[in-house]
Amino acid sequence: MGRRAKITALGTYVPPDILTNQDLERMVDTNDQWIMERTGIRERHVLAKGLGVSDMCAEAAKKCLAARGIAEDKIAEFGIELIIVGTVTPDMMFPATACLVQDKIGAKGAWGFDVSGGCSGFVFALQAGVKMVESGAHKKVLVCGADANTRMTDYTDRTTCVLFGDGGGAVLIEPCEEGEIGFIDFEHEVDGAGGVSLNLKGGGSLNPSSHETVDKKMHYIYQDGPAVYKFAVRKMAEATAKVLARNGVTGADLGCFIPHQANKRIITATADRLGMDPERVIINIEKYGNTSAGTIPLAMETAVEEGKLKKGDLVLLAAVGAGFTVGAALLRWEI
Ligand SMILES: CC(C)(COP(=O)(O)OP(=O)(O)OC[C@H]1O[C@@H](n2cnc3c(N)ncnc32)[C@H](O)[C@@H]1OP(=O)(O)O)[C@@H](O)C(=O)NCCC(=O)NCCS
Repeated sequence: MGRRAKITALGTYVPPDILTNQDLERMVDTNDQWIMERTGIRERHVLAKGLGVSDMCAEAAKKCLAARGIAEDKIAEFGIELIIVGTVTPDMMFPATACLVQDKIGAKGAWGFDVSGGCSGFVFALQAGVKMVESGAHKKVLVCGADANTRMTDYTDRTTCVLFGDGGGAVLIEPCEEGEIGFIDFEHEVDGAGGVSLNLKGGGSLNPSSHETVDKKMHYIYQDGPAVYKFAVRKMAEATAKVLARNGVTGADLGCFIPHQANKRIITATADRLGMDPERVIINIEKYGNTSAGTIPLAMETAVEEGKLKKGDLVLLAAVGAGFTVGAALLRWEI
């Protein structure tokens, strides 16, 4: 077996401001009961004005490095070689958020890039980072997943505004020690035909920002909720089943299952198909809503806090997002 890669530290960040279902009841025609029953969300965090996704990634990265024993003033010396940021809500069209994070944390000498994988962005970025370590190209890779979805949300549209929140996290990928396993396998797919069901049309090269794009609300998330829902349930189940079967693993072998948090009903449906004990399925959507590329690192943190993710546990990650994109990863937790 060649070189293997593992997660050596985790850090997360959510902004302090909270938007509750009661707050939303005062903004659109909705109610706490509908939101809880249909999505499982009670509240979500909102990034303060003047800050961007790079600020959330930088805070998460600093916590991640602190967990690895690296103080803020020692980050340059530690020598992160590569920063990959999964996000669809970058600070700007360019430069890449990874460049802004590199500067904010003082990761001197690192290079970096962003990955646009929708809600699968973190898992996609993770595979890129893991392969860089497994190939021997790098030994210290920082992978971030974060989104500021509230920036792109139309707070007059009740079908989307109840779903999204801001937040994210970062992990450090390094080579395994002798006897460790770390990352085992990934299963990724895109289905571009699904792009029509979930997108943000304004501000890109096709529809550059203009008064017209703003008048047409093209700077907001557009979503055909039921179409996304159906795809998510089918594809999360398919991708997770594939990666487990390929590695001779069943739901019963997993320490925990960490799914993307888009809707509690999507998670429960996938977990049922996997035959997972609900106790070992990580759900924190109630507190954060859908933070897109941020949900999996945030759910990893929840799993650790709840004592459901311990050294040596097999863990399955899964996500579905705008694209459509599908991502799954199987790994052994080595922290
Ligand atoms: C968005 C979502 C929660 C809607 O749930 P749903 O059960 O499919 O609900 P529907 O869209 O069929 O709407 C049912 C009714 O509730 C209404 N409704 C929608 N949002 C509402 C809200 N916030 N409050 C109250 N009623 C609402 C609809 O208008 C509709 O009313 P009608 O029957 O009178 O037309 C669900 O489709 C979903 O979670 N989709 C996937 C979202 C997702 O994963 N996105 C990110 C991808 S990673």
